Amino acid sequence: MKKFVIKGDICYSETSDKLYTAKDSYAVCEDGICAGVYQKLPERYEAFPCYDYTGHLVIPGLTDLHVHAPQYPFRGLGMDLELIDWLNTHTFVEEAKYAELSYAEKAYEIFTEDLRNSATARACIFGTIHTKATLLLMEKLEESGIIAYAGRVNMDRNSPENLCEKDAVTAARDTEEWILECGRFQNVRPMLTPRFIPVCSDALMEELSRLQKKYHLPLQSHLSENLGEIEWVKELCPDAAFYGAAYDKYGLFGNDCPTIMAHCVHSSEDEIRMMKEQNVFVAHCPESNTNLSSGIAPVRKYLELGVHAGLGSDIAAGSGLSIFKAMAMAVQCSKLRWRLTDQSLVPLRIEEAFYLGTKGGGAFFGKAGSFEKGYEFDAIVLDESSLRHPQELDMKERLERFIYLADDRCIAAKFVGGVRLFEKNQRHVF
Ligand code: GUN
Ligand code: FE
Repeated sequence: MKKFVIKGDICYSETSDKLYTAKDSYAVCEDGICAGVYQKLPERYEAFPCYDYTGHLVIPGLTDLHVHAPQYPFRGLGMDLELIDWLNTHTFVEEAKYAELSYAEKAYEIFTEDLRNSATARACIFGTIHTKATLLLMEKLEESGIIAYAGRVNMDRNSPENLCEKDAVTAARDTEEWILECGRFQNVRPMLTPRFIPVCSDALMEELSRLQKKYHLPLQSHLSENLGEIEWVKELCPDAAFYGAAYDKYGLFGNDCPTIMAHCVHSSEDEIRMMKEQNVFVAHCPESNTNLSSGIAPVRKYLELGVHAGLGSDIAAGSGLSIFKAMAMAVQCSKLRWRLTDQSLVPLRIEEAFYLGTKGGGAFFGKAGSFEKGYEFDAIVLDESSLRHPQELDMKERLERFIYLADDRCIAAKFVGGVRLFEKNQRHVF
C-alpha cells in the first residue's frame, strides 16, 4: 500500500541550519513519494488510509552512509588499538570467517534483523571479499525492506593470505560475476568496494576502474582516517599528490563515479577541494574516529564549503547501529575539536547533526531523507514514552532529547520507500 497519510508531530530538514516542525500535521505518501506535509489535510487525500500517530514525533528515515556488516559480531570489543593494528588483530580475523557460509548465515541474520529494527532506512554497506557471503547478505537485506547499496570488498595486498584476492584479474572476474548476480535484487544495489588504498594494488584499481566504466557503479571506500595510514599511502603511491588522488588516478573519486569516502579526518585542503569539485560524499563516523583514536573530522568545514556529508556507524569501529548516537557524537566531537584544536570551526548544532543523519546522507540515494514534496517516503515514528519528563517541551526539544537519550528500541513504526516495515503496537487505521 503506497498511498496513505501519517498523522503526527512531523520534523524534517530542508537545509542544514533549520529544523521544520509541524505539530498535529499530515505527511502524505502517494505511490511511495512524499506529496507534502499539511496542517490541514487537502480534500484530495481524504480518502487515503491514515495512520494516526497523534502525539508522536515523526521524522524521515535515517541513512547510515558507512557500515561493515561482517564486523557486527565483534562490536563493542577490541577498541584498544589504532586503525592498522586493529584491522590486523581483530577485523581481518573476523572477516576471514565469512568464507564459511554457515557462519555468514548466522551473522548476517543478526545484522539485518537489528538493522531492520533500527531507525535506519537506507545504508551503504561493506561485505567481505567472499562473493557467496556477500550475496547472502544482499538477499537478507532485500527481505528486510531496507534500501541499500552493498559491496563485495576488494583487497589484494598487505592483507592476510586468507583474505586476499588471488590476483587482480581473478578479483575482477569474481567481482564482475558478483555484479551480474545482483541483477535479481530490487532494493539492494551493488557498489564497488576497494577496501582502501593500502590493500589495493595498482593492477586491482585499474581492473575496478574498467568495471566502473562498464557498469556505471558507485563506489565506497576509506580516506584519510589515520595519520599512520596517510603516511603509508604516501610511500605506496609516491606519485599521488594526496591520498584522494590515488583513487582519482583511476577515475574512482566522484564525478561519473558516485563516491562515498568514510572518515576524511585529516584531509588536506587540496583533497577537500577535489572532494567538493567532484561531488564526493563524506561519511562522518564520530564514534569510530573516537574509538580508534583517529581524530575528529572537520565537519563544520564540510558543511560551510558545501561538501556532501552524512553520518556512518562504521560498525565495528563504531559500537552500535544507531544513527541517533552518531548525531549526538557528531555534536560532542565537534565541541572537543573546537575547544582543543581549532577555534575557527564552531561546534555543530543539533539541527545540523539531524540534517547530516537524514537529508545529508540521504542525498546519496537521490531525493531521500526529507518530507519535502517529491522525496521518497521513508518515515520513522518515535516512541518517547520511556523518556519521562515533568515539564512542557516543544517539538525541537523533544527531538533533541530523543537523539541524546533514546536508542533504536524506541521506534514505534518504520516506513521505507512507502512500505510499512513494522509497527510495534497495532494502531487504528482510519
Ligand atoms: N580502513 C580500511 N578498512 C577499514 C575498516 O574496516 N574500518 C575502518 N574504520 N577503517 C578501515
Ligand atoms: Fe569503515
